[in-house]
Amino acid sequence: MGTPSIILSSTETHQTLTIDPAGEASLSGHIQIPGDKSISHRALMLGALAEGTTHIRGLLLGEDPRSTAACFQAMGATISELNTESVTVQGIGLGNLQEPNHVLDAGNSGTTMRLMLGILASHPDRLFTVTGDASLRSRPMARVIQPLSQMGAHIWSRKGGLAPLAVQGQVLKPMHYQSPIASAQVKSCILLAGLLTEGKTTVSEPALSRDHSERMLRAFGANIEVDPDTVSASVIGPARLTGQMVVVPGDISSAAFWLVAGAIAPGSDLVVENVGVNPTRTGILEALQRMNADITLENPRDVAGEPVADLRVRHSRLVGCTIDGDLIPRLIDEIPILAVAATVAKGTTVIRDAAELRVKESDRLAVIASQLTRMGAHVTELPDGLEITGGATLKGAEVDSFTDHRIAMSLAIAALMAQGTTTIQRAEAAAISYPTFVPTLRSLFS
Ligand code: S3P
Repeated sequence: MGTPSIILSSTETHQTLTIDPAGEASLSGHIQIPGDKSISHRALMLGALAEGTTHIRGLLLGEDPRSTAACFQAMGATISELNTESVTVQGIGLGNLQEPNHVLDAGNSGTTMRLMLGILASHPDRLFTVTGDASLRSRPMARVIQPLSQMGAHIWSRKGGLAPLAVQGQVLKPMHYQSPIASAQVKSCILLAGLLTEGKTTVSEPALSRDHSERMLRAFGANIEVDPDTVSASVIGPARLTGQMVVVPGDISSAAFWLVAGAIAPGSDLVVENVGVNPTRTGILEALQRMNADITLENPRDVAGEPVADLRVRHSRLVGCTIDGDLIPRLIDEIPILAVAATVAKGTTVIRDAAELRVKESDRLAVIASQLTRMGAHVTELPDGLEITGGATLKGAEVDSFTDHRIAMSLAIAALMAQGTTTIQRAEAAAISYPTFVPTLRSLFS
C-alpha cells in the first residue's frame, strides 16, 4: 500500500490539484462529510420566510448555500455567521421580503436561482433582479419562468430564458402543473410560489425527484399533500411558516466520492458517517450494489424528518450494468462519479435517460467523457448518457474541472486509480459543495 502525493497549488484565480497515487492506494477509517446541499438551501430559505427563529445544525458551508444566505440577507432576513455548529435565521414572515437595493447574485447555484424565483414572483409590488456566474447565466431558466408565468408571474429574461432576470412580484393564481422533467428545482419553485397563493398549487412530475422541500415545508407548518400514484405534490395556500430546528444530514452526493473510491481501491474498508439516505436520493447505492459493490447501511435512524445511516464500503470487483429510467433522478448528481466506477468495472456500463446532465454546472456528459478519455478510459458519449467499457488502465493526465465541482472531485478519485500523476485544473470548484474535500482525501491515507 502506497501513500499518495496530493498537492494543491494556487494562482490568484485558480487551484490545481496534483495527485500521484504512488502505487495502489487503499482507503480506511471513519469519515464525516459536509451537510446536504439541497437541505441546506431549503433550511436557509424557509428560515428566512418563517415567523420566528430557525436554528440550523450541520449547514453546508459551501459556496452555494452562502449564495442563498446572501440573497435572503439582502431581502431582510437576519442570518448569523455561517458555521456547522449552529446558524440562526430570524425570519421575516411570508410576504414580507424587502425589495433588495442591488442585484441578487445566485453565484453558481441553480437551486438558489430556481427556488428563489418562485418566492420572488409571488411577492407583489416588489421588483427583483437576479443573476449568477457565467455557468449559471447559461443554464435554462425557462423551465421555471414558463410555469410561473402561467400562474401570472411577470419575469423578464435574456433571450432563451437566460439570466440575468427581472421579476415583478404579483398575486399569483394556483394551478396544476404537469412538469415535463423530473426536477426537484422546478417542483420546489412552484410549491414555493404556491405558499402565498390562495388555493391549491400542484406539480406532477414524470418520475419522483428529491422530496426535501415537501418534507421541510410540512415541518415548518405548510399544508402539503403528496400523491405517490400521480407523482404529485401540492401546497394549499396561503401558508404560514414557523421557525424550526433543522438538523442537516451529511450529503449522499458528497459521500458518493468516498463510496466509489472505497469500492474500487483494493483493500479498502471505509465508513462514511451520518449520511442522509432519503429514498429519493439513494439511487447511487442501488446502482453501485447492481455493480456488485459491497455497501452496507449501519445504524439507520431518523433525524429531524430525514432518514440517516452510516455507510460502510469495502472493496469488491465491480461489474458493468445499465442505469436508466426512474433511477436517474435518484442519482442525478452522482453520474460523473459513477462513470469513474464504470471505468474500472468488468464489462460495459450504459447510462441512459440522463440528458439533463447537459444543463448542469457544465455539460457533464461531454466533460466527464472527454476528461476520462484523456486518462485512457473507453467512454462513448450518447445523446442522453454514456457507454463505458471498463477495465482499461487509467493513466495520469492533465485534466480540467470546467469549473464544475462534481467533475473536479470525480477526477480526483479517478486519479487515485491511475498510473502516474494527474493534474486537475480549476480544482477550486470543489468548494461549491465540498470545501474540505482535499483535506479529507489526505486524511484517508495518513
Ligand atoms: C437539486 C435538484 C437537482 C440537483 C441539484 C440540486 C435541488 O437539480 O441536480 O444539484 O436541491 O433541488 P434538478 O432539479 O435540475 O434536477
